Amino acid sequence: MKPSEIILNASDYVSEERLWELLMDVATYGATEKGGVNRQALSPEDTAAKNHVVRWATERGFQSFHDEIGNLFIRREGNDPTLDPVMTGSHLDSQPTGGRFDGAFGVLAGLEALEALNDAKIQTKRSIEVVAWTNEEGSRFSPGAMGSSVFSGIKTLPSVMDLTDPAGVLLSEALKATLSEVLATRCSLGRVKPHSYVEAHIEQGPILEEGEIPIGVVSGIQGIRHIDINVTGEEAHAGTTPRRSRTDALVGGINIVNALHKLTFDDKDILRFTIGRFEVHPGSPNTVPGQVHFTIDLRHPDKKVLSSIGDEMHTVAKNAGGECRVEVLDIGFITPTEFGIKMINIIAKAADHLNYKNVTMPSGAGHDAMHLSNICPTGMIFVPCLGGVSHNEAESASSQDLAIGTRVLVDAITYLANE
Ligand code: GLV
Ligand code: MN
Ligand code: MN
Repeated sequence: MKPSEIILNASDYVSEERLWELLMDVATYGATEKGGVNRQALSPEDTAAKNHVVRWATERGFQSFHDEIGNLFIRREGNDPTLDPVMTGSHLDSQPTGGRFDGAFGVLAGLEALEALNDAKIQTKRSIEVVAWTNEEGSRFSPGAMGSSVFSGIKTLPSVMDLTDPAGVLLSEALKATLSEVLATRCSLGRVKPHSYVEAHIEQGPILEEGEIPIGVVSGIQGIRHIDINVTGEEAHAGTTPRRSRTDALVGGINIVNALHKLTFDDKDILRFTIGRFEVHPGSPNTVPGQVHFTIDLRHPDKKVLSSIGDEMHTVAKNAGGECRVEVLDIGFITPTEFGIKMINIIAKAADHLNYKNVTMPSGAGHDAMHLSNICPTGMIFVPCLGGVSHNEAESASSQDLAIGTRVLVDAITYLANE
C-alpha cells in the first residue's frame, strides 16, 4: 500500500472536546463515588448507556440495530449498502469496580469517527458500523467477550442462555429485559458480515505511557484459559468439632491455591495467574466451611504453555485438596490471536501520516477483537492510560491521547471503507 492511498482529512474533523463530553456523559451511567463505573453486563445501567448511544444515533439520522444477544450497531450508510460494512467498536459494560474508559472509549471513539466523517462530508463506499458488544467483561456472567463470540459463531446463542450471575439470575432473563428496553430496531445475528473490524482501546498497561508513545498498533492478543474449582468438605460446629473430625473446605481450598501459585510461578513474569473470585459456604462465622468455589484466569502468549499448565492444574488441585472432594472445570480456552499484517500496516500508516509516534505491541488484556479476527481482517489501536491502571475506578486517560487514537481510527476505517 502506498502512503498516498490513505485518505487523511476525516481525522481533521475529530473533536477532542466533543469526544470527551460524550465519554463523560456515558460515564454517568453506573457512576461510582470513587470516580469509576459499575455498569455490569445486562444491568439497568448497561441498558441506559446503550439507550444513550441509540438516542445519539437517532438525533444524527443514523440507524441502530440490536441483535438477539444484545449487541448494538450504529450504521452510517455507504454509497453501496449491499457491500459488507467496516466495523469498529468495543463494549459499554464494565467491571464491578471499573473505569470510565475500558470499552467505552472504543465505542464512543467510533461515534466520534462517524461525526467527523459527517463534518468532513466524506461519503464512503462501504457502510461503517459502530458496535457495542454485549458482556465483554464477563464479571457478572462468565466467560466474557460473549456478544462478539456469539456474533462470530464461536459460541451459539443457546449455549450461553442458562448461565447465571452470582445472585442466581439467569442470563436469558437479564437478556430478555435488556432486549425489551433498548430502543434500537431488532435484527438477527446474521444481518451483516463485517468486511473488517478495528477496535480502539486504552492500553490497560504501562508500556505506552512509559515510552511516551501515543499509539500502540496491536499485533495480537495473548491466550486466556478460565478454570473453576469447587472444593467440598463437611459443615460442622466451630466450637465442638475436634480437628481430627473436620473436613474443612477452606483449608483444602487454601492448600490448592498455594499449590497452584507454586505451579504457575514464572520468574520471567509472562504467565499470568489470577484468582479473582473466592467464595466460602455457608459463610457463617461459627460453621466449619463445607464448600469453597474459586475462579482461575490464566494467560500466556503461547497456546502450548496454556494447554500444559492448565491441564497440570487438574492433577495439582486434586492432590492438594486432601480429604476434600475437588472438582476442576474447564470453562473457557481462547487461543492466542495474531492480527494480520495488512491491518497492522493500515493502522501504522494512518498513525505515521498523522505524525504520531507508534509502536507495534501485543495485548495482555482480552478484547472482542480476538473473536472478530476469526471472521474478518481485524486490528486494534491502543492509547496510553494513566499509570497503566485499569480494572480500577481510578482508571484515567487524557483527552488529547483519546483524540489522537480516534484520529488514527477514523483514517484507518475510512481507508477500509473505500476498499
Ligand atoms: C477483559 O477485560 C479481560 O479479561 O482481559
Ligand atoms: Mn475492555
Ligand atoms: Mn475490561
